[in-house]
This record gives sequence, structure tokens and C-alpha cells, in this order.
Amino acid sequence: KRAQESSDYEQMERAAKFFAHQLRRHENSAAVIDYLKGRGLSGEIVKQFQIGYAPDAWDGLLSALAKDQRSKDQLVDLKLINRNEQGRYYDFFRDRVMFPIRDRRGRVVGFGGRILDGDGPKYLNSPETRIFHKGRELYGFYEARQANRELEQVVIVEGYMDVVALAQAGISYAVASLGTATTTDQLQMLFRATRRVVCCYDGDRAGRDAAWRALENALPLLNDGVELSFLFLPDGEDPDTLVRKIGADEFRKRLDKAQSFTDYFFAHLTDTIDVNSDSGKSLLLKQAKPLIERVGSEFYRDTLMERLARLLRREASQLAAQIKAPATQKA
Ligand code: UTP
Ligand code: MN
Ligand code: MN
Ligand code: MN
Ligand code: MN
Repeated sequence: KRAQESSDYEQMERAAKFFAHQLRRHENSAAVIDYLKGRGLSGEIVKQFQIGYAPDAWDGLLSALAKDQRSKDQLVDLKLINRNEQGRYYDFFRDRVMFPIRDRRGRVVGFGGRILDGDGPKYLNSPETRIFHKGRELYGFYEARQANRELEQVVIVEGYMDVVALAQAGISYAVASLGTATTTDQLQMLFRATRRVVCCYDGDRAGRDAAWRALENALPLLNDGVELSFLFLPDGEDPDTLVRKIGADEFRKRLDKAQSFTDYFFAHLTDTIDVNSDSGKSLLLKQAKPLIERVGSEFYRDTLMERLARLLRREASQLAAQIKAPATQKA
């Protein structure tokens, strides 16, 4: 009996297929397809990312997948259906464009759903489940690895549409960190697959904050041979809008010229500090020191220390005595 029960992954895959099927068969599908076309997406890219549609109904997925009590309970656990206080079951995602989130092995572990219009949050994401841990997954990572024999670089963006729009333009190596800050786990996953990571968040306050948090989370991973850079977008742009405006070639040029993490490190820290004053110098030292101490490689620590020494008008050797290596240094 047990062998016939569907695994969580099988259920998630069925859900992805159901949503993809609805995109072709549902009575609203013409409007949804128009929406996707309006955002510049071809049928081919929609297929590649298995983009779908959650119908405008309380019992779409429910009636398709919840065959018995056990599968109902399972779908509740997977957060694909909800159960209200009266004990009634209903679809979690309704009337949304659906983006399946795959883990690095290609198994569907969650979904993002974008509203078409009307009220409600623009994006709804699967809550954490026993198979979905947001800080450890990256939207588009599996697809990027499928599309490239080797990943020369990976671009981290904020949103599903940024990943898909870049792939549509021919930049098939973008991933999104699912609405939260990019975590050390996510960065580690990327640095196992590539040497060069470019952070490219939205050109707004939230995007700039996300960049600095990504830098902080990347510090322990900055080992010899890895490269982390930052591409800051013009105000109001995100990778989706920008690549559609300037084209893939120009976008690639900007990726190539992205700011190195060392340049960004000091640009950010000295943004609000006057390094010509003694108080500014001491503040810079105080802020930079604990960050530099978290850096993985001696080479990058030295590089940052030399830059810091120059800004403070000190000898690097004088600073070196004050700045320690990380406590737990990996080989
Ligand atoms: P953005 O707020 O930048 O999306 O969120 P956007 O660019 O306006 O959306 P489009 O282009 O109109 O479709 C970026 C990411 O943040 C998360 C999602 O992962 C989204 O892709 N997010 C955003 C949410 O989880 N919930 C929201 O309500 C908004
Ligand atoms: Mn927005
Ligand atoms: Mn934004
Ligand atoms: Mn956008
Ligand atoms: Mn955006």
C-alpha cells in the first residue's frame, strides 16, 4: 500500500503539470498568455521554466489532486491547499501566474505566484514546508545549469520575472533568491558551481540594502579564486525592465564591468564617513575591522587591509597586527 502513495516530490511535480496544463486549457488562458506575451516572453521560455496558471477557483488543484483524505493532508502539508476552521479545503494559489521552484536536482519544492491584476500581494510564495527551505533554494539555478554546460558566472537577481526575462534575452545564468536576503547557504551553493557571482538587485532602496547584506553574507566564502561583483541598476529599473530597454549585449557589457566587492566595500563604508577627519578614520576602522576579520582568504583580507591602510594613511603592517584571521578557517 505504502509503495502506491505519492511522494511529496511527485505531488509537487503533479501540481506543476496541473498549472502548466491550465495555462493552455483554462477558459482564462488567452488573457494569461496575453499577459506573458506582454511581458516579452515566448512560448518556448514559458515551457522551459514550466510557467503555469492557477485558476480562479477554490477547488482547482483540490479537485485535480486531492483524491482521498491522505492526499488532502499531504497537499495541506505542502501548502498547496488550505484548510479553514470549518474543515473545508481550498486552493492556496488562485488566479495567479505560477513559477515552479526547483531544487538543484530539478525537483519542484515550491511555487511563486504572481497576481494578474486586482488586490492582494503581487507575489505569493509557498510557505516553508518539510521540503522547501527558502534560504537554501535559488529560483532558476536548476534551469541555468541545464542551459549551460559550464557556468562561467551567475547573476543573482531579486525576482522570478528577472530570471525569466534575462533567459528570454539569452542571458541564461540568472538565479533569484526568493524575496529574502541572499543567504550564505545560497552563495555557497553558487560558488560550488561557478567562480564568478554578480549581484544585480533592483535600482531602489531595497535593492541597495540587499546588495550590502549579500556582501556581508558572502564574506566567509571569499576564498582564493572566487570573484564577487555588484551591478547597480539605474533608479527604478530591475533586470527585467533594463534588459528589455538596452538589450542583452549592453546588459552583458555592464555585467563585465560590475563593481568588484573590494571597491563596493569601501565605497559603501565611506559613503557617510569623512575619511579626512580623525573621527572619520577611527569610525572607518571600527566598521571595517570586524568585516575584514570574517573574510575567508588571506589574499582578500590583505587586499582589503592595504586599501584600508591607504584610506587611514597608515602602514598596512601597523594594521595587520590589529586584524585577526577568522577563528575557524577552512582548508
Ligand atoms: P519586486 O517587487 O521587485 O517585483 O519583487 P516586481 O519587479 O515589482 O514584479 P514584476 O516585475 O511586476 O512582476 C521581487 C521579488 O520579491 C518577492 C518575489 O520573489 C519577487 O519576485 N516578492 C515581491 C514577494 O515575495 N512578494 C511580493 O509581494 C513582492
Ligand atoms: Mn515591486
Ligand atoms: Mn524592488
Ligand atoms: Mn519587475
Ligand atoms: Mn523588481
